[in-house]
Order: sequence, then C-alpha cells, then structure tokens
Amino acid sequence: MVKAFIGQIVHTKSLNDFEIFTNGFVAVDENGTIIDTGSNFQLWQSKNIAKFTEIKEIHLKEEQFLMPGLVDCHIHAPQVAQIGLGLDMPLLDWLNTYTFPLEAKFADQNFAARVYKKVVESTIKCGTTLASYFGTNNKDSTLILAREACRQGQRALVGKVCSNCNSPDFYVETTEESVFATMDFVNDMKKLNTDLVQPTITPRFALSCTKELLAQLGEIAKEYNLHIQSHISESISEVEFVKSIFSSSYAEAYDAAGLLTEKTIMAHAVHLEDDEIELLKKRGTSVAHCPASNTMLSSGFCDVLRLIKKGVKVGLGTDVSGGNSVSIQDAILRALDVSHHLEFVKKQDIKGSGTLKPSQDEYAPINYKQAIFLATLGGAQALAVDHITGNFIKGKEFDALIIDTSIHPLHNFDANSTAAAEHKLLELVQKFIYVGDDRNIVNVFVAGKKIK
Ligand code: GUN
Ligand code: FE
Repeated sequence: MVKAFIGQIVHTKSLNDFEIFTNGFVAVDENGTIIDTGSNFQLWQSKNIAKFTEIKEIHLKEEQFLMPGLVDCHIHAPQVAQIGLGLDMPLLDWLNTYTFPLEAKFADQNFAARVYKKVVESTIKCGTTLASYFGTNNKDSTLILAREACRQGQRALVGKVCSNCNSPDFYVETTEESVFATMDFVNDMKKLNTDLVQPTITPRFALSCTKELLAQLGEIAKEYNLHIQSHISESISEVEFVKSIFSSSYAEAYDAAGLLTEKTIMAHAVHLEDDEIELLKKRGTSVAHCPASNTMLSSGFCDVLRLIKKGVKVGLGTDVSGGNSVSIQDAILRALDVSHHLEFVKKQDIKGSGTLKPSQDEYAPINYKQAIFLATLGGAQALAVDHITGNFIKGKEFDALIIDTSIHPLHNFDANSTAAAEHKLLELVQKFIYVGDDRNIVNVFVAGKKIK
C-alpha cells in the first residue's frame, strides 16, 4: 500500500537550496521508496488513482513538519559507555587514559551487547537514521553492533577498528590479525543479507597503523569496493607525530595506501593544509565535521566553509565520546557555534588585546539551513550514499523525521499567527533547531518503516 505524508515538509537539495512545502506531500511505496514529492497532493492523487488503488493518507498536524532523517558521519559506538567522561585532556592523552582501556573491554561480548543495544536506541531516539559507526578492534563484538543496527532498523556503516602499533599491549593487533579479522568481518556482514547495514574499512588513524597495514586495508577496500573511514589532522601534536613517522603530509600517508577514495570519509580535518585539501578534493574524499569533539578535546576550529569552497564534501559527526552528545541536532548547533566563533576570530579587533587581528578575507558563518543540509543530504553525500538517502527526491528511500513543535520545550505560542505560511514553517524549523530536542522528534522512519 502507498502511504502519503501530507503537510509541512522541508528538505535540502544542496548547501544553498532549502526547499519547503507549506502544504506538500511525500508518497512512499510499500518498499519504502519515495514515489513522488510535491506541493499538490490532490492533483497527484487524481493522476495516480488508477495506478495506486489504495493510498493511505497520513496528515501531519499544524505544529508538525516532516524533514529528512539525521546523518551521523562519525560516531564511536563503544565510547557511549564513557560519554561525558575524561574531556579534560587533549586527544592523545585522552585515548591512552580513557579510551583504549574502555574499548579493550569490548572483548566481552555480553558487555558489547548491552552497550550497543543502548547506543542504537539512543541514536534513533535523537533522529539518526544513518550512522557511520566505529566499533572496536574486536570483530565479534563489532558484528553485534551491526546486528543491533539491523534489528532496530537503523541504516548504518559499521567498521571493525584496525590498529597494530603505537597502542597499549592490551589493545593492539598484529598486521595479520587485523587483516584477517577485517576480511572475516566483511564476509560475516554479507551474511546479514541486508542493504541497510554495510561494512566500512576502518584504520583507526595513521598513528596506530603501520604503512603495511594501511596498504593492505586499502587493497581490501579496493577489491570489494568498500566504504572507508578514519581520522585526519585532528590535533597539532597528532599531525606532527604522523608527519615524523610517514615523512609526508597526513593526507599523503593515507593516499600512499590507496585509502583516499570517493567512498572515504575522514573525521575532523581541523589542521589540513591547502595541498592536502586539494588532494582530498581530487580523490573525492569527504570530511566528517565534529564540532563538539574538536572543542571538548581542544583540537581546534574546523573551517568547514574553507573545505566546502574548495570542493570537499562535508557532513556532521557527533564523534562520541570525544563529543559529549549522540544528537546530530546538537551537532548542528555546535557547527553553528564554531562557525560564528571563527568569524569572531577572523574579524573581531580588540584594541590592545594583542591576540586578535581582523582578517582581510570575506567570511560569513554558515546559517541554520546550511547546517541542516550538512546534517542530512551533506552527510549522505559525504558517506557516498546520497543516491539512497538524504532528502525527499523521487527514487530515494524514505528516511524521515516527524517533528512536533507543540511539545515541550518549544511551547509554540504561535505569536506570528498572521504571518505567511512559508514564514511560519521556517519559524517552526528554527524553533526545533535552536531550542528543541529528541522529545520533539515524534517519529523516525528508515526505508519507510517506522522505528520510533
Ligand atoms: N583518533 C584516533 N582514535 C580516535 C578516537 O577514538 N576519537 C577521536 N576523536 N579521535 C581519534
Ligand atoms: Fe573519532
């Protein structure tokens, strides 16, 4: 049976193309594929009545709107177990003190099952319809994560983490172990027999992988045409360490191993130099912007507009637990904050401060519509799955959220009752983005199936 969602609808078609329908519709077939999106349901229905005998109409309330599901381009599922802890250290200390000991515990499958069930539940609750997950070095527990995403109906890319050097003895693999476990993981994932959840090749970062391991992972990704995810240029001390080991730039270290592809997403990219950005652009490699984590771990500002202007695709990541929230809606706000703060740094001229100098370059921070793009279609593009999801274009799968602005904490008093319908809808969107939370996300759909 065809379902038609009727009411206020918003989605993006590009960074600067935010499309709204004040009285629109999205029609979805029984497989969860979008048959059509438009502004006149009656007309569409009259033309299609012969083709689709039964159409179930789902009318959104006045205070509700439909938007595409949120995409988390970078999240460490095991680290949800330590969310909010240890954010008083820079990256490399944080990894050694908190994160590696925690991730080593995922050799225990029972512990993994308990944590991963909660991870998927809480990301779905926050409207994440697609997540690119890091698991741990442990292949079997990472499979538990993949099964859990599948069971709960979330779209996901899942990676068994690989690391064979510069790691503690209790959390390190040999090159052979890492490569064999990755191959096993890819084969086991095929047996899940689902389009929803796919494997992604996951070298932790250049620091914890030898050239040899990186090269072998690059070959596996190439042979099986797989997605790839890792970290790049997150903190200054990490970048210097990588340069000293690889005698090249960070981006070149990955490129030499064939790891920069059109299906690669690299988290952070805070300190990338111009020629590295050029290289990412040339390879079609994307960036996951993780504003919360970049602040929490004192990594730095990522200037996403610099990346976007140079032609690099960008999506948003929570980077839990470097980031302190599993919510991509929160990441939207953090991305807006960082973008505004960057403007201050570039333009604010405090006489006598000796620190801030106004920059000559034109800089305008991103706005909320652009941030929504990064959180939806931008993320889908960055993960190379925008042919499947990211907005309500005909032929894509219906990954969507129903947002209800009448629910706490928004208290929608409708102060602008005489305003034009377009204006009112954009106000509801702003209210949700700036003030709302997961309580306002009343329904979550993936491939047409309601999962919240
Ligand atoms: N670099 C290598 N591993 C990690 C990690 O777990 N989190 C973050 N933020 N950066 C990393
Ligand atoms: Fe990360």
